[in-house]
Amino acid sequence: MNLVKKGAIACAIALVATSSFAAQPAKSEKHAAKATEWRKDVFQLIYSNMGPMGAMAKGKIPLDKAVVEKNAMRINQLSYMIGDYFKVDTRKFDVNTETLDKVWESPAQFDKKITALTLASANLQKVVQTGNEGAIKKAIGGIGKSCGSCHDDFKQD
Ligand code: HEC
Repeated sequence: MNLVKKGAIACAIALVATSSFAAQPAKSEKHAAKATEWRKDVFQLIYSNMGPMGAMAKGKIPLDKAVVEKNAMRINQLSYMIGDYFKVDTRKFDVNTETLDKVWESPAQFDKKITALTLASANLQKVVQTGNEGAIKKAIGGIGKSCGSCHDDFKQD
């Protein structure tokens, strides 16, 4: 194994270790409602950065590498916020949410899905530098898969 590969693996392990979250129950209905609103806001921001890239990957709009570079960086940074915004466990309250209880029942599995998004967006940041359009579209698709895979397990349809 070469040094670069070893470095990448060490990096991935460090990411797994730092993104874990210890959740606490919401203190009140109001607290639960606010926490729910904020975690949805994080996903809305992620979505607003993913939307144009998804359209580029499908060929609906021209590929703009500057936009991809910026949006991949933003999604990467936002991915680090997901764990923090799920630290408030809202299961006991009647909040307007599509989050499944499983998030707080299996935090390690949820964490893995967060890490998948972190790695997929880091990969796109790297691939966009090559300028290879096919590879860029594939890497955008990789992010899309990480969204879908988490939604399959942790979000109501
Ligand atoms: C680690 C798991 C996970 C990943 C990764 C993830 N999501 Fe989600 N997403 C969720 C959960 C859970 C909810 C439900 C939030 C709620 O209603 O409390 C959600 C909700 C959403 C919503 C609705 C927000 C609202 O206002 O109700 C959108 C849009 C969304 N995600 C888009 C995306 C996109 C685009 C990606 C990938 C770039 C992505 N998500 C990646 C777990 C994830």
